[in-house]
This record gives sequence, structure tokens and C-alpha cells, in this order.
Amino acid sequence: MNSNSMTTELLIIGVILIFFGVATAGLGSGGEGEPALPPAVSELIFADQRLAVVYPVIQKFKNIITSDPLNITASWSGTDICNYRGFYCESPPDNRSATALASIDFNGFQLSAPTLEGFLDQLPDIALFHANSNKFSGIISPNIAKLPYLYELDISNNLFSGPFPTAILGMDGLSFLDIRFNLFTGSVPSQLFTKDLDALFINNNNFMTRLPDIIGSNHILYLTLANNKFFGPIPHSISKVFSTLTEILLLNNFLSGCLPYELGFLKKAVVFDAGNNKLTGPLPFSLGCLEKLEVLNFAGNLLYGTVPEVLCAVETLTNLSLSDNYFTHVGPICMSLIKNRVLDVKKNCIPGLPFQRSLVECVLFFLHPRYCPYIGTYHYIPCWHPHFSSSPLALADKAPSPS
Ligand SMILES: *[C@@H]1O[C@H](CO)[C@@H](O)[C@H](O)[C@H]1NC(C)=O
Ligand SMILES: *[C@@H]1O[C@H](CO)[C@@H](O)[C@H](O)[C@H]1NC(C)=O
Ligand SMILES: *[C@@H]1O[C@H](CO)[C@@H](O)[C@H](O)[C@H]1NC(C)=O
Repeated sequence: MNSNSMTTELLIIGVILIFFGVATAGLGSGGEGEPALPPAVSELIFADQRLAVVYPVIQKFKNIITSDPLNITASWSGTDICNYRGFYCESPPDNRSATALASIDFNGFQLSAPTLEGFLDQLPDIALFHANSNKFSGIISPNIAKLPYLYELDISNNLFSGPFPTAILGMDGLSFLDIRFNLFTGSVPSQLFTKDLDALFINNNNFMTRLPDIIGSNHILYLTLANNKFFGPIPHSISKVFSTLTEILLLNNFLSGCLPYELGFLKKAVVFDAGNNKLTGPLPFSLGCLEKLEVLNFAGNLLYGTVPEVLCAVETLTNLSLSDNYFTHVGPICMSLIKNRVLDVKKNCIPGLPFQRSLVECVLFFLHPRYCPYIGTYHYIPCWHPHFSSSPLALADKAPSPS
């Protein structure tokens, strides 16, 4: 009874306040403090004009959100944009005394919206946009190319579709691109591979493209193309330009052809995974020069020949996976790795080892004549190695011209 009447009283006061608010707003008399109703943007007071500009953009976006299970958008009201959940302000590069919406972090918010068009591309001061693990869909607006400060774009694990957002190629400041785990299809423009990025994650989409002959940028650290439909050979150019790469994930594509000897120049590589492709030929000895290599996966390809001892001698290796190929020989160093369970050579054609392919399978494979170009390069070891050396070119810093 008591609490009921209390509620009623509060309600009445609320109604009176609302009427009062309407009355003052209706009078339009300025300078009398904050209006009580959500009024037109022009009457709201923002900490900075730049925030006033993005306010309607955010509210429009809020209205198209179809699902918000974590009740994130409840905080997206009022003029204090810098305290909305997921929104962060900073002074923009062009005016150190201004306050602007500089970054967005919606990671894991589980929001659904049919598009980001009209939102992301209308935030002129945005520098970082992270929105992984939401249910955003649609295509990426070409207008994002007009965002002068955007340098990190992470829209991974959403439902974006359509072709590769080529507008990205025109974004000179962009250094981090993560669009993995979406539904993008079609080809990837070859210019993407020469763009100056630190990280390029485009795995787990539906891209179908021949890898371009020239790929590489000066300081890329991560390159993941896995779980797409990339085809064609791994280009020779992967080495010099990509010498800073630490993680190269090419698994589960349709890459074919022989391995380029230049893989041995990926000096910083820690993980190289090209499992489940259609790569063929022998393993180049140059792989023994990858002195930081921990994980090397070529399982599920059409590789053959001897597993190079110089590769098995790489001391940092923890997982060398060569199962499901057509290798025919391992030496003593590789044998000890098999015993330590670092090297897996199951389902190959190595006489005397358990779990190999049937003789018939192996014979059928080798019935076809197999050939790799530049075969002379496969035995070069382009680094100094205490126990192995190849030719006078061993210390050369660049690929020898194939003879
Ligand atoms: C969402 O958050 C608002 C404000 O924090 C709160 O009033 C409302 O009850 C919440 N709704 C749900 C469904 O949790
Ligand atoms: C910089 O931002 C401040 C705060 O918004 C503003 O008052 C000032 O006019 C701006 N300066 C320039 C040169 O735009
Ligand atoms: C080694 O790598 C292969 C291929 O990526 C993977 O399937 C396997 O589980 C790994 N083994 C260990 C012990 O981590």
C-alpha cells in the first residue's frame, strides 16, 4: 500500500516534470539550463563540436540494431558520447585541444545490424574500429576510404559478405586489417599483398584467387590466408619482402606447384602452416635456415623425396608435421625427431616406418613423372650452419640464379 502510493506520487512528479520540459522546450527560450526531453541535436550540449557531429550518426545506428542481448546500447544515450559503452574519445591528430570519437571497441558485444554503412564511414575522426564477434552483415561501404585516421580495422567473426572491400586499398594509413571469419567471396586484389600492412588476416572466408606473383610488404608480421580457396603456387617473392613475417598461415587452400627455395629467407618465421593444399616437389634444404621456426606444417600435400636433415636440425622445432604426403626417406636426425614426437611422417612412403601408405598407392603416385623448376636450388643452404653446408653460394644473401 505504502510503496504503491509512493510510486504513484513519483509518477505524478515525473509527469509534471515532463510537461514542464515540453513547456520550456516549446518556448524555445535559450540559456535556461538542460531541457528535460530529448530535443533536437542543436539544443544538446556536447563537450566538443566533433562529438555533436557524430551523435546523430550513432543514434541512427542504434536504431537499426536488431539484437543486443548484452544491453550494450542502453548506455548510448545522452550527450556524453565518450562514456557510451564501446566508444572512446581522444584528441584528434589535427587539433590537440579538441575531443573526438577516436576509437570503437565492440568486441564480443553480440550486436546484430544489417549494415555498418552510414555508421563507420560517417565517423570522421575514427582511428581504431574493432568489432569482432558480432553479427554485423552487409557489405563494407566504399566510403571508409575517406576516413583519414583509420589505421586498425577488425571486423572479424561477423557475417559480412560480398567481394573484398577494395576501398581498403586506398587507405594509406591502414596498418592492421582483420576480416577473417566472414562470408566474403571472390577474388582478392593483388595490390592488397603489396600494401604496407603490419597484419593481414583474411582467413576463413570464401576468397578464390590465384596468389599473385609479387606479394610482400616491408614489415608485415602476420599473414593468414587459411581456409579459403586460394590457388596457384607460393610465389618466389614471398621471401625478401616478407622477411619480417613471424606467422604464415596458408592451410586449407588449393595452393599447388613446387615450394620456392626462397622460403628459407623467412628468417623470423615461427609458424609456417601450409597444411592441406596441393603443394608438390621436395622440401627445399633452405628451410633449415629458419632458426626461429617452432611449427612447420605441410601435412596433407603431395610432397615427396627426402625430409632434409638440415630441417630436422632446427633446434626450436616443436611440431614438424609432414603426414599424408609421399616422402620416401628420413635420416638419423629426423628419426630422432620422430621418436620425440616432434616429427610426424605418418601416411607417407617411407620404407620401414609404421603407418605408411600402401605400396600400390606409392607406386601409383610415382608412376607420373614429377618435375620442379629450379631443382638445383633445392639443395642450397643459404645460411651458415655448423653441421651442414652446400655450395660456395651457401653464404650468399640472395637467391642464386638458377642454372
Ligand atoms: C538495460 O540497461 C538499462 C540501463 O542500464 C536498464 O534500465 C534496463 O533495465 C536494461 N534492460 C535489460 C533488458 O537488461
Ligand atoms: C580546436 O578544437 C577546439 C575545441 O573544440 C576549438 O575550440 C578550436 O577552434 C579548434 N581549433 C581549430 C584550429 O580548429
Ligand atoms: C602439430 O601440428 C599439426 C598440424 O597443425 C596438428 O594437427 C597437431 O595436433 C600438432 N601436434 C601437436 C603435438 O601439437
